[in-house]
Amino acid sequence: MMYGFELSGEHEKLPEAEILALLETYGVKVAKISRLNRLLLVTLEERMQPDQFSEFLSRIALSHIVIDVFEVVSADFDTIRDAASRMAPSISGSYAVDATVWDEEDLTSTELERSVGALINHESSWVDLEKPDTIVKLYVISKRCVIGRVVHTRSKQEFTERAPKRRPFFAPGVLKPKIARALVNLCHIKPYECLVDPFVGTGGILLEAGLMGIRVIGLDAQEKMITGASRNLEELEEVDLILGDARSVPFKNGSAAGVVTDLPYGRSSKIKGESIDSLYRDAIFEIFRLLKKGRFAVIISDKPIDDIIKKSGFLVIDEYSMRIHRSMTRRIYFLKKDTEVP
Ligand SMILES: C[S@@+](CC[C@H](N)C(=O)[O-])C[C@H]1O[C@@H](n2cnc3c(N)ncnc32)[C@H](O)[C@@H]1O
Repeated sequence: MMYGFELSGEHEKLPEAEILALLETYGVKVAKISRLNRLLLVTLEERMQPDQFSEFLSRIALSHIVIDVFEVVSADFDTIRDAASRMAPSISGSYAVDATVWDEEDLTSTELERSVGALINHESSWVDLEKPDTIVKLYVISKRCVIGRVVHTRSKQEFTERAPKRRPFFAPGVLKPKIARALVNLCHIKPYECLVDPFVGTGGILLEAGLMGIRVIGLDAQEKMITGASRNLEELEEVDLILGDARSVPFKNGSAAGVVTDLPYGRSSKIKGESIDSLYRDAIFEIFRLLKKGRFAVIISDKPIDDIIKKSGFLVIDEYSMRIHRSMTRRIYFLKKDTEVP
């Protein structure tokens, strides 16, 4: 079976990386991956269990819509109509048709919605544009038409409600909740496993992880951050917040199933360390020690730290850059601990 993910335009690579990491996290075997512009098409070797599938969908941060693909056909009107007629018997109850035409000038979404809508209609199906049981979705893109049914729509409101400024405790420079969630997902971590953020700040990363049922541990050198983060994380069940130093975390080797952290920036953070470079080096070596072999870390930095990463023993899976505002780009290092020794 094939699923289509309408990727967010917020980043060129992260939305696709998030989906592939999540599928791997749940041990799903992927038979084929292809891209049509912002639509990622993934063919799975076998169907996911319903509970697992809904958990997977609920975790996604950087895809707007997920569809169960019925067919991919060429983007001409008659061929699309034929595909819709083949799909019609599988639709029962109320439905609506929603078409997105990305780059095909000859077809319009209104025309497609009207025509396909009429074809789907039969004795046991009827149009309901307000609250349909099924949304039939069409993407017309790069001379192809992908037709399927919507299985998930990401709630915009959910992330707006968790905007950093709406939380009880706020400090500048915090990641957007959507990005924080995608980075946790990149880390290949499952519910009940333990994620550590050794520079927890206001707790934005741990909030997203905790809401996905992950056990979270945070450390910060400033007492006001620990107090503030505990207010922000009040709704979570399993949280440990420790006043401490990221260069020496009081946990055994290999005790973390994942680490996601945003390193302190020279000016904006109160740094407890000799110099920013030595703090980064010692903290990254400590993250390596804490992480279980075979697991992943995501480290965000406002300057290149490739040399430190190389010496720490981490394998770089990928590196992303993300523009926060005109004068600030953050680097995101997606790392794996493949060996025990740095
Ligand atoms: C960039 S902020 C983290 C932002 C965080 N992701 C959030 O959601 O608010 C970095 C944090 O690192 C803390 N910090 C600085 N030096 C530290 C150290 N040696 N050990 C632990 N925390 C430290 C700062 O107090 C600050 O709260």
